[in-house]
Amino acid sequence: MMKNNIILIGFMGVGKGTTARAYSKKYDIFIIDTDDLIESKENRRIKTIFKEEDEKYFRLCEQQCADWIESSVHNSFISCGGGFYKVSNLKELGTVVLLNASYEWIFNRLSTAENAKAKLRKRPLFSEPEKAKALYTEREKAYKEVADVIINVEDKSMKNIIKEIHKQVTL
Ligand code: S3P
Repeated sequence: MMKNNIILIGFMGVGKGTTARAYSKKYDIFIIDTDDLIESKENRRIKTIFKEEDEKYFRLCEQQCADWIESSVHNSFISCGGGFYKVSNLKELGTVVLLNASYEWIFNRLSTAENAKAKLRKRPLFSEPEKAKALYTEREKAYKEVADVIINVEDKSMKNIIKEIHKQVTL
């Protein structure tokens, strides 16, 4: 049976966290952030997990997190790390909503943010822009294939983005 959650996916820096916080405030629903869950369970930062272990280990953490969501989380707004869409049971977790924008828009959003350095530093897969661009290209199609709902965020206000999500997904 389809679970009653919103599963927010999309590329690093597209604004999943910001969108989740705005949605939570307006529609009075708790947010779960998969990166935060993994960081607290592991008791270390994502970038440290990548450094001390490897990406494969991090993907196992994401799968474990997905399994927990499937068995235990209902009626919540779940903001996912950029690679979380690859977990085997994604579609069982809830309605999958993709935040979509071009790589150029995302890069510009990240690099002009007030805390741009910190935003880039905490994302190991964004440390080299050419590699991040290649990753974007590699994932672009898969994101769209797995999504139930696609929200284009370029040139849209946050108010309209969360309204659109709310209109398209009834929990
Ligand atoms: C990743 C995205 C990150 C984080 C990790 C790997 C990815 O989350 O999960 O660094 O593979 O795209 P954000 O999308 O929140 O940056």
